[in-house]
Amino acid sequence: MFLSSRSWVLLIFINIITITSNFYRIHGELPGKWELLVAHAGIASMHTAVTRYGTVVLLDRTNIGPSRRMLRKGHCRDNPYDRVLKHDCYAHSVLFDPSTNEIRPLMIQTDTWCSSGQFLPDGTLLQTGGDRDGFKKIRKFIPCERNESCDWEELQDSKLISGRWYSTNQILPDGSVIIVGGLHANNIEFYPPREPGILSLQFLTDVQDGQWDNLYPYVHLLPNGNLFIFANNRAIQYNYTNNSVVRDYPSLEGNPRNYPSAGSSVMLALQGNYTSAVIVVCGGAEYGAFKRKRNDTAANGSCGRIVATDPNPVWEMEDMPFGRTMGDMVMLPTGDVLIINGAQSGSQGFDQGTNPCLNPVLYRPSEPVGLRFMTLNPATVPRMYHSTANLLPDGRILVAGSNPHYYYEYGGDFPTELRLEAFSPEYLSDDRANLRPVIEELPEKLRYGQAFEILISVTLPVVGIVEVNIGNAPFATHSYSQGQRLVKLGVTSAVPESGGAVGGRYRIRCTAPPNSKVAPPGYYMFFAVNQGVPSVARWVQLIY
Ligand SMILES: *[C@@H]1O[C@H](CO)[C@@H](O)[C@H](O)[C@H]1NC(C)=O
Ligand SMILES: *[C@@H]1O[C@H](CO)[C@@H](O)[C@H](O)[C@H]1NC(C)=O
Ligand SMILES: *[C@@H]1O[C@H](CO)[C@@H](O)[C@H](O)[C@H]1NC(C)=O
Ligand SMILES: *[C@@H]1O[C@H](CO)[C@@H](O)[C@H](O)[C@H]1NC(C)=O
Ligand SMILES: *[C@@H]1O[C@H](CO)[C@@H](O)[C@H](O)[C@H]1NC(C)=O
Ligand SMILES: *[C@@H]1O[C@H](CO)[C@@H](O)[C@H](O)[C@H]1NC(C)=O
Repeated sequence: MFLSSRSWVLLIFINIITITSNFYRIHGELPGKWELLVAHAGIASMHTAVTRYGTVVLLDRTNIGPSRRMLRKGHCRDNPYDRVLKHDCYAHSVLFDPSTNEIRPLMIQTDTWCSSGQFLPDGTLLQTGGDRDGFKKIRKFIPCERNESCDWEELQDSKLISGRWYSTNQILPDGSVIIVGGLHANNIEFYPPREPGILSLQFLTDVQDGQWDNLYPYVHLLPNGNLFIFANNRAIQYNYTNNSVVRDYPSLEGNPRNYPSAGSSVMLALQGNYTSAVIVVCGGAEYGAFKRKRNDTAANGSCGRIVATDPNPVWEMEDMPFGRTMGDMVMLPTGDVLIINGAQSGSQGFDQGTNPCLNPVLYRPSEPVGLRFMTLNPATVPRMYHSTANLLPDGRILVAGSNPHYYYEYGGDFPTELRLEAFSPEYLSDDRANLRPVIEELPEKLRYGQAFEILISVTLPVVGIVEVNIGNAPFATHSYSQGQRLVKLGVTSAVPESGGAVGGRYRIRCTAPPNSKVAPPGYYMFFAVNQGVPSVARWVQLIY
């Protein structure tokens, strides 16, 4: 067989492309870096939350039998309602310290399976509901210094009015928490409770289909004080004060997006005069994949994006580079969104996912449609059902969990995953270290609307604006980070502290969020972001 010279050129060209792309694959040169933090966390984290001390609460469910970590010596849980171990000396929750990679077992009494949570204004983690004896439980974890021994506390004198399984919690402007929906609970209630107890939410019933698809609804507190509630493929704007649907949004085309069809959702960073809020919903399983137990049905890769505060908004559609169900969407300090974890086939549920989606992708909201997605360095560990992703104060993303099985199983295609990893976005790469700001001085507490100054230092000279962005710590579970929020503060240009020197120290004047609808009270990770490179965050408490 003879090839024309043009074909040879083509063939050589194709070879070069293949060699080049193999080089990048072998050398892992897609952006971002993976690192193993802990080989044996002892539990698979179904729910994960970062405390204001930078420690991380990992939480599984209790009716699961032996984990791989014992409670402290002499500590066991005696619970006649436990399905597997009525006398249980294994940990089902642990506290992870990313500064030392140490793990400390925590004692959780009642079942937290498919429960929900949110941080309160004083930094306490409120944790609600679950299965069986946990159905109506309210728990608190008051975080502490790394050298102290805080633990879970289960409230004895108050409980939920409706049992809650697969609900979503969102902190409100007054510092209370709304608890939305759940299996056979198409209603809302509040913590602390409010009259008249529970309020029925017809919307959740309307969108329920033959496999639910209305569980773990996406709830975003809009800066006008109403809630944006998304379930299945529809959304409403809801005034929880008078229990009225203020607006119906157009349906999002395509597959359902909530449990068990898990896509994920974020509200993009609030900024400017804070009048506008943009919601993004991405991915999910095709309808029926769950019901018919088809773990080979390809997941959808479409994202919808809507300006929820516009008078006549429409969904703008865009395809991700991969179909993905059970992905997590993490708000980065820059305002970009990391989409990570999940599967390319199947749905949520035990043994219902295959074909892990190992490549994270970066979503850059300010780019035009078509240029927003960037494919990142793939993981080696599949993270599917019951896995989580959380932003750490140092800018890394903690990735935990994945247990597609009813109990802990360490064999087979997708074993129970006990490893903790961190993904470092490209902004942490060595070649950008010279741009990385360090926060030298800032107030510990901020009042709404307060004008204040911070002092930063950077190696290379700063030109113009260094962003100052505050992000809260959400409660991540089932591919959705409850309460996740990033707010960009109003800032002036960075002014050199001592003129002339290369790099050095800069003062920035900032204005705290105007009110608690824009940013509910509580602890936030406070980042300075220089040319897309975030500082290590300092925790700041936003108070009235
Ligand atoms: C823990 O560390 C903090 C801060 O370093 C210190 O103030 C406190 O006394 C320590 N507590 C204990 C129990 O050692
Ligand atoms: C919600 O309804 C209450 C009572 O009617 C009203 O006072 C409040 O302003 C409404 N909230 C919004 C955000 O419109
Ligand atoms: C609730 O408040 C909104 C204003 O946000 C108002 O438009 C609506 O009519 C009120 N609904 C009820 C049932 O009072
Ligand atoms: C996802 O669903 C949408 C809407 O049905 C469809 O247009 C699109 O082709 C699907 N995209 C992917 C990547 O699966
Ligand atoms: C807020 O900013 C937007 C966009 O910059 C502008 O169109 C709008 O008029 C502003 N609204 C108020 C109330 O200032
Ligand atoms: C996918 O489903 C098939 C058919 O039910 C089953 O045999 C297989 O074990 C499942 N795979 C996984 C990874 O759960």
